Amino acid sequence: MSALVFAYPGNEALAKVLAAANGLSEGALTLRQFPDDETFVRIECDVKNRGTVIACTLDRPNPKILSLYFVARTLRDLGAKRIWLVTPYLPYMRQDKQFHAGEGVTANEFAAWLSSFLDGIITVDPHLHRIRSLSEIYAIRTHVVAAAPAISGWIAGNVTSPLLIGPDSESAQWVSEVARGANCPFVVLEKKRLDDRNVNVSVPQLADYRDRTPVLIDDIIATGHTMIAAARHLVHAGAPRPVCVGIHSVFAGQAYEELTDAGVARIVTCNTVSHPTNEIDVHPIIARDLTRIL
Ligand code: R5P
Repeated sequence: MSALVFAYPGNEALAKVLAAANGLSEGALTLRQFPDDETFVRIECDVKNRGTVIACTLDRPNPKILSLYFVARTLRDLGAKRIWLVTPYLPYMRQDKQFHAGEGVTANEFAAWLSSFLDGIITVDPHLHRIRSLSEIYAIRTHVVAAAPAISGWIAGNVTSPLLIGPDSESAQWVSEVARGANCPFVVLEKKRLDDRNVNVSVPQLADYRDRTPVLIDDIIATGHTMIAAARHLVHAGAPRPVCVGIHSVFAGQAYEELTDAGVARIVTCNTVSHPTNEIDVHPIIARDLTRIL
């Protein structure tokens, strides 16, 4: 029997694409809060001996992860054969070392915890910096979907004569890949993070690229301050207003409004986290990779 795809609330569109592309059935799931805020879970279909996929992107993870755990454990209790999580945004990847004495390395803790109740994870471009591969911290199967081809396609079709600008050394991995696909040049800046909300980004050298449209590109837009700092340098240097492309539109607090106010031309993201800026659809490429895995 084919696998079943369950949509964690809010992930119905993704679940439909995954099911349709792979000829899978959509599983029914009831998830609600009791009056005292504890979680009620019921799997509404027979999962015995069937492979299962839970579609659940994990931006703003803390309110979601306990009920995700209950869903997975219930599937297991009911006899599901395998449980894969499709989480287009994988959180808790940035605290990947102890920066100061006493800090928890939550990337490791979160990975160990998810590994304790899932069989595999599919995600889109996780934030890999000091951790080079998910297999370093996840004890289960992992698969990374690359958003670069979809982003290259969008840039090639929507930006005239682009110059890609990555705001920090970590971004080099995506920026070089996207530049190759969009057949355009790129530069990578240097970033120093001062605290959660403040960053210094080096000034881009644009002398060789005067006629090009700057496209800032980063994996996560969280506070937006990385993009804002880079955009300000461009505006100050008299460059055209930049297009901002992010893979994961986390947009904490007023980040979207603050980035808009920084004088950028356009903000575009992939639909790994639902947001009005989602112009790049990566659900089909996630579904394609799921096909290979299943
Ligand atoms: C960090 O190194 C990431 O690649 C992003 O640059 C970072 O997460 C962006 O965060 P924020 O929007 O808060 O500056």
